[in-house]
Amino acid sequence: MKIAILPGDGIGTEIVAEAVKVLQVLDLKFETETALVGGAAYEAHGHPLPESTLKLAKESDAILFGAVGDWKYDKLDRPLRPEQAILGLRKNLGLFANFRPAICYPQLVDASSLKRELVSGLDILIIRELTGDIYFGQPRGRRVSPDGHFPGAEEAFDTMRYSRPEIERIAHVAFQAARKRGKRVTSVDKANVLETFQLWKDVVTEIGTQYPDVALDHMYVDNAAMQLVKAPKKFDVVVTGNMFGDILSDAAAMLTGSIGMLPSASLNDKNQGLYEPSHGSAPDIAGKGVANPLATILSAAMMLRFSLNQPEAAARIEKAVDAVLTQGLRTPDIYSEGTTKVGTAQMGDAVVKALG
Ligand code: NAD
Ligand code: IPM
Ligand code: MN
Repeated sequence: MKIAILPGDGIGTEIVAEAVKVLQVLDLKFETETALVGGAAYEAHGHPLPESTLKLAKESDAILFGAVGDWKYDKLDRPLRPEQAILGLRKNLGLFANFRPAICYPQLVDASSLKRELVSGLDILIIRELTGDIYFGQPRGRRVSPDGHFPGAEEAFDTMRYSRPEIERIAHVAFQAARKRGKRVTSVDKANVLETFQLWKDVVTEIGTQYPDVALDHMYVDNAAMQLVKAPKKFDVVVTGNMFGDILSDAAAMLTGSIGMLPSASLNDKNQGLYEPSHGSAPDIAGKGVANPLATILSAAMMLRFSLNQPEAAARIEKAVDAVLTQGLRTPDIYSEGTTKVGTAQMGDAVVKALG
């Protein structure tokens, strides 16, 4: 078994280092290989996703990814921007199913921006379709407007698009995941306005008939955003498209205390997976040693469970994270009164120690 380690940019390198420490003490017999990705790869090789990095990712059983991006690359042509690396990995490896579990640890109820009774016991799973939607639809571009309100003006356009098989396969993923937990799926769409999401709703409803033991309901995305901060515990599994899933999962992150707590797994139909925190490269805190590494460490646990067939090792990591939170250790993003503030490396070291 081989793991590709792609730290990327900003806090990516800091948090992946902690996850690697944790994997190392588990003494699992995996080969690992590290490569540049994102802005770091652009600096070294002139491209955010060099051929060699893509090749390594393709031939690995799992990828541990940090984050990519920095404001300083915002002016580059789009194909050269760091974000194209993660999009390219998802597309090239067919990683269509993105799991973003939002769990509020009891120790962190006071770190959440919501009242404790709203988030206490929260355990929801956002399943985001990851290789379709307006992220990848063609055509897209800029032009002189041929019509519309301002003919002759500069305009930009993207294409929102889903095919039936793309919706079918993510719906199956969601229903199967729900079977293993609360047996409820909420499909989030915008079928009242968008043709793409009317098809989404129709197809999810059809697939739902194959899962009579799972309760299905539908919600418009605007209402879903509201319900997520009003009564998040009413959700079990949420399945939605690429863009809505991106937005809703960042909102759900705050229910757990911080986006630094939200891991993710992106899987293809061969159970090959890319594992990364749901957050980005956080240029505002990069290099300061204060980023929360727990989302990345928990992503490594998901990697052991989903792609490397090591559920016991995964559970050990999750228990160790629970233990350091019980000890009261907190990076600044999850700090609350009466707890102990620590940095990125101290948090990683504490997890290592808790592993025994
Ligand atoms: P971000 O997620 O990087 O940061 C948002 C806020 O959350 C910042 O205030 C940041 O300090 C904080 N934060 C994020 N992770 C944290 C952690 N582990 N611990 C403590 N605080 C944390 O989002 P952004 O600022 O909108 O984007 C920054 C860059 O990251 C952009 O270039 C963006 O495109 C990129 N990005 C990359 C990925 C990815 O690689 N998958 C994901 C999201 C954003
Ligand atoms: C994420 C990020 C990415 C996305 C960006 C960096 C391309 O926000 O992983 O959530 O939009 O999918
Ligand atoms: Mn995002």
